[in-house]
Amino acid sequence: MPSFAKSSNPELTATLKPEISQRHTFFRLLGYLKPYWWALLLTIIGFAINSATEVWIAKLLQFITDAINRGDQSQQNLFPILIILLFITRGFASFLGNYFTALISRNLVYRLRVEVFNKLLRLPSAFYLANPSGTISSKLIFDVEQVTAASTGSLKTLLRDGLTVIALLGYMFYSNWRLTLILFVVLPPILWLVRYASKRFLHLSKGIQQTMGSVSHITNEVINGYQVVKNYGGQEYESRRFNDASMKNLRQGMKVVITNSINTPLIQLLMAMAMCVVVWLALRPEVMSGTTAGEFIAYIGAAGLLSKPVRSLTDINQQLQKGIAAGESIFALLDEPEEQDTGTLTPKLHGDIRFEQVGLTYADGTKALQDFSLSVKAGETIALVGRSGAGKTTLVNLLTRALTPTSGQIFLDNQPIDSLTLESLRAQIAMVNQQVVLFNDSVEHNIAYGSLADKPIEDITAAAKAAFAHDFIMQLPNGYGSDIGADGLQLSGGQRQRLSIARALLKDAPILILDEATSALDNESEYYIQQALDNIMKSRTTLVIAHRLTTIESADKIVVLDGGYIKEIGTHDELLQLGGQYAQMYARDFAEA
Ligand SMILES: Nc1ncnc2c1ncn2[C@@H]1O[C@H](COP(=O)(O)OP(=O)(O)OP(=O)(O)O)[C@@H](O)[C@H]1O
Ligand SMILES: [Mg+2]
Repeated sequence: MPSFAKSSNPELTATLKPEISQRHTFFRLLGYLKPYWWALLLTIIGFAINSATEVWIAKLLQFITDAINRGDQSQQNLFPILIILLFITRGFASFLGNYFTALISRNLVYRLRVEVFNKLLRLPSAFYLANPSGTISSKLIFDVEQVTAASTGSLKTLLRDGLTVIALLGYMFYSNWRLTLILFVVLPPILWLVRYASKRFLHLSKGIQQTMGSVSHITNEVINGYQVVKNYGGQEYESRRFNDASMKNLRQGMKVVITNSINTPLIQLLMAMAMCVVVWLALRPEVMSGTTAGEFIAYIGAAGLLSKPVRSLTDINQQLQKGIAAGESIFALLDEPEEQDTGTLTPKLHGDIRFEQVGLTYADGTKALQDFSLSVKAGETIALVGRSGAGKTTLVNLLTRALTPTSGQIFLDNQPIDSLTLESLRAQIAMVNQQVVLFNDSVEHNIAYGSLADKPIEDITAAAKAAFAHDFIMQLPNGYGSDIGADGLQLSGGQRQRLSIARALLKDAPILILDEATSALDNESEYYIQQALDNIMKSRTTLVIAHRLTTIESADKIVVLDGGYIKEIGTHDELLQLGGQYAQMYARDFAEA
């Protein structure tokens, strides 16, 4: 996710060599395991017992073979009991190991996910502007799982398979050290071959993931855009597109089946070759002198049991790499600089606002505001008008410090805006955003959101009434308790807008900002809300952004923005007399009405 790299901890990634930064990530991930040392201990105990049972399987083979050889029937009843005991122990031990690795891993997912989520709440708006929401949420959902799957996968391999290999090798050395030494010479090249073959196959099977990606991508597009698909007759096109992607997926899938079906016998053949060497050597007297048939069978059995854990161990690096890559992506987010909040003052604001030559340039170089100076006295109503893209929303976002001016300064009650704490600043500004945001919760909780949660129900209904929302809320199945679906899907655009106005009114803050707050309303509701707003505006500083100019005629000052500059400024009558952009816009509006 390259978009994160640019803003995240540049010194760290630039000056450290990749291996060192990888090691850094690895140890940082290990840090998360610390509180679970006890679970790790139980995992080790479980897997240690498990690996001991592997040796005992080989040993049991030896006893049984020797007993058969001797024609000895005295232990006929003992062996079955031993076998059962062995497998009970083994089952219990592997349960212990698997359960506690899962416990560690699920806790790791939980902790990482909560940490990433809480981090998201503290990141500045600039971060959200710079990163697509899909990328951000995939970190929370996918990368976190990936880290956990890979890190616990490799932990499990390391413990379970590592301990098994140690136990089996120990047994083999104890049983016949000469043969084992010889094995050490023969095995590595064969293992290398096996690994090489598996890698090639793995590479081939990756293609199928990509085709799966486009299948789900097309599906999502059709589901989200079903209206456009229907209205523009896109069914045939989509069907063809989907068919192509699915066909590719089918072909890739068959390729994987073929390669896998070749892979397994090929690897078995390679392992058999290793076994050939062992058997061939074992039959030489200088290697196998004084060995019983049972010991030999046990030895071969142990060597056979060795192959699976050894193969997993050779893949451990790949697994680790996957986890570390995902870990790096998560840590990049966790290391993002948080919203600056160096302010210390928490004054009770009257509502004087002063912009001094304020400029704002977005990260991509767009100059959204330039040389903007304006004084607003407490209680005044200022209207901002201008073409789409003139910089109106940008200007009001500077007031909540969602954006920081690139030049100039803003003062509230003569204090620089950044001397206030963010909490105090935002508590005293009520804003109705251009894009209405509703949460998957009840109407009541949507109006009394966040710090408004403890407002009494009377205040909530009063705010809803002022926002002209009370009537339609009462018609919902559960009134104020009705759930609004995610994104407020069951409500009309105008209803959603009225809820967001109610939220702002409930906040009862000295500064009120309305960014196209009534744009989705019909003339009648707009008229009523306007009256309610007019009342409320009297007692506080208000910034209104509106395209319909009839709603702002009574403003104390009207500011016409154009290309980020103030083009005209004055009262409605003054601007009409000026006969400039405002007068033109107004004439057009009036003609329409
Ligand atoms: N995050 C961003 N990154 C880069 N440029 C941006 C960003 N947001 C806005 N802009 C640009 O800044 C300029 C001002 O945008 P702004 O949203 O302030 O306009 P506006 O006056 O509110 O327009 P509208 O009436 O359509 O809401 C536009 O040219 C816009 O393309
Ligand atoms: Mg806007």
